[in-house]
Amino acid sequence: MKLAMIEDEVISYEQLPASYCDRGLYFGDGVYEVIRSYDGQLFAFEEHMQRFGQSLAAIGINNVDLADIRKRIRSAFEKSGIANAKIYWHITRGHGPRDHVGGPDLKPCFFMTITELNDNAAAQVKARGMKVSTFPDWRWRRCDIKSLNLLANVLAARDANSKSCDEAILYNEQGYVTEGSSSAFFAIFDNKLQTTPLSENILPSITRIFVLECAKAIGLELVQKPYTIQEARGASEMFIAVTTRDIVGVVQFDDAIIGDGKVGSWTGKLAQQFKANRSKYCS
Ligand code: PDD
Repeated sequence: MKLAMIEDEVISYEQLPASYCDRGLYFGDGVYEVIRSYDGQLFAFEEHMQRFGQSLAAIGINNVDLADIRKRIRSAFEKSGIANAKIYWHITRGHGPRDHVGGPDLKPCFFMTITELNDNAAAQVKARGMKVSTFPDWRWRRCDIKSLNLLANVLAARDANSKSCDEAILYNEQGYVTEGSSSAFFAIFDNKLQTTPLSENILPSITRIFVLECAKAIGLELVQKPYTIQEARGASEMFIAVTTRDIVGVVQFDDAIIGDGKVGSWTGKLAQQFKANRSKYCS
């Protein structure tokens, strides 16, 4: 007899809810996005949709109507009535028996949540600056795909949390910084903004695009070149960038105090510029 067990309850295999057989759960076989809204408008929606389309294509989920996904997201967002929302969605390859290849008739599964962002708590972290700790980058070789496989990111974030840090900064086997466990990472050396160049080893962060634009606007020179964690310790400023929190200064990197232990002035200027620019990308 085919059966299944959920917690301590045995049920027949046929009664198993489809969500338990989702390939996202079994294999992380899907891709996701996170966007936010400011004052009732979606921020950088098209940029995120474009990256989402690239992620889907990269893992060969081709039978998704992106125009329909756009409509679903907009209508659910309007229904939510949340002004400053965090909007998460994913699409998995489908559900079915646990088989690596999967059948020919898999139908993509869409899932989404809309929740309120706590911008007040985020503002407090922004004002005091973050502590970060470093962790080896154990991820696979296609980190440019926003895939549901996040175990290495989760382990890094949990390690940082156990050290009372706000984020983990990942480094590769050569000791070079790649990015944060769930954020892009930037350092400032000699009044120059330095960040790891885009490659298959990091996510093409949407916030990164705006950081680069803001840097240009305030006359901060940009260097896209890798740097080691050892070099990072000597930065005069550093910050993370991510959709849900935009730009957040880092004041401690492992045991190294960055600058004077307060959020740096370039970081503050970039964050201000970001705020001034952002309505251009709201819709
Ligand atoms: N994470 N790098 C990684 C590994 C990330 O997971 C994220 C975002 C970023 C920043 O990307 P963006 O600027 O497009 O938000 C960089 C999301 C928010 C998450 O997993 O929740």
